[in-house]
Amino acid sequence: MGAANPRFEVPLPGVRELEALAAYVKQVERSRQVLRQPYYFLEAEPSFAPGIEVPGSYGHERFLPPQALPGQAFDVQALRRDFPILKERVNGRPLIWLDNAATTQKPESVIERIRHFYTHENSNIHRAAHELAARATDAYETARESVRRFINARSANEVVFVRGTTEGINLVAQSWGRQHLKPGDEILITWLEHHANIVPWQQLAAQTGAVLKVAPVDDLGQVRLEEYERLLGPRTRLVSFTQVSNALGTVTPAREMVRLAHAQGAKVLVDGAQSVSHLRADVQALDCDWFVFSGHKVFGPTGIGVVYGKEALLNATEPWQGGGNMIRDVTFERTLYHAAPARFEAGTGNIADAVGLGAALEYVERVGIDNIARHEHDLLRYGTRLLEDIPGLRLIGKAADKAGVLSFVLEGYKTEEVGAALNREGIAVRSGHHCAQPILRRFGVEATVRPSLALYNTQADLDALAAAVRQLQRAKGVRG
Ligand code: ALA
Repeated sequence: MGAANPRFEVPLPGVRELEALAAYVKQVERSRQVLRQPYYFLEAEPSFAPGIEVPGSYGHERFLPPQALPGQAFDVQALRRDFPILKERVNGRPLIWLDNAATTQKPESVIERIRHFYTHENSNIHRAAHELAARATDAYETARESVRRFINARSANEVVFVRGTTEGINLVAQSWGRQHLKPGDEILITWLEHHANIVPWQQLAAQTGAVLKVAPVDDLGQVRLEEYERLLGPRTRLVSFTQVSNALGTVTPAREMVRLAHAQGAKVLVDGAQSVSHLRADVQALDCDWFVFSGHKVFGPTGIGVVYGKEALLNATEPWQGGGNMIRDVTFERTLYHAAPARFEAGTGNIADAVGLGAALEYVERVGIDNIARHEHDLLRYGTRLLEDIPGLRLIGKAADKAGVLSFVLEGYKTEEVGAALNREGIAVRSGHHCAQPILRRFGVEATVRPSLALYNTQADLDALAAAVRQLQRAKGVRG
């Protein structure tokens, strides 16, 4: 990192601070007993005792759920209280947020962590010898470590902060891709991909003379693995595919697809934008070369995301953007770059939102990603049954392994009409092409209505959705 990078010296608390802290803890304990609730659910919790600096505390911890035990069922109603926006009313009705594939809502702990950053830590990072620079640097690097832990990377040096998944894929295309691909080399993607995992490769192919190939899907929306394998060959240099389709919800057999690609000597990027909030992300188990995701789809802020890359690979790749923060030394003749991750973080990054992302991942870890996956799996089955029963409704994407998404079209209605009707009931879904036109066209449609799930959704949300859709059908005289 940069030359001036002082660590934040944590002062030892004095007797007065420790006594005040002990009193505070007792007070919280008392309230917890009275209400028989985990303390993070208390509505009238005292704010963190003023004037006490608790080493390593950022104030948001009091909004975190207790650490879930393995296999523990979570209380969805309790978790919902962590998300202030879920108390909103829309068109006179309680908001039902079923647009999670577009973006997720943020828990109080994330909001509080960002507030704390701007109130107590805000500074540029890696650059100065003053106190706030040290606090901000520590906060940012702590967030990087949270990401490392969350995706099980070997080292925090493998975690590069970017603006989001789209920027991450463009980074790989315009750095490693530009530096390694030659005319006739092949890039392989699948039919499921989001535009962000198509367009950068088309651009790269046009720049390098490489050829873009696409692995097809079957009628359920699953990658045809034998076709994928057939398309891999000695010319395949790079494979890029999603772990979960944003339009259909298909979960791809990512580990197997990485293995098959590596057997041909290709490098592999896995797009985790739609998977990180639903499934365990383990980059070592996947063995992918890069893994990208966006903070805002995993309860974090917008404008922050991550490129994971294997450390040796990142360090063997020339940076794609030049500027401050990424250099070791500059003369007018040449520049020496830092090692990863700094070599890919030119300029002042989105420091506060990286910190917010760290808090979001901490939140998910507390709830337990396996608990979330189980809850959403049950909801998906419940929602599928409800929607399948509605006459004139066609579900698009029926893969055996799905996560989070229930795309459909409704006979007699444009998708935007369904979206607007649901909005009148306070229900938010995305209707449109979901930035994934090729896969929708594969199913003969230009657009779908796409309810999508997160940990805070309930069966009642899906009941309300199904009732509103049925109401539309009744308005057209369709019975059922
Ligand atoms: N890619 C996001 C979606 O699927 C925006 O809606």
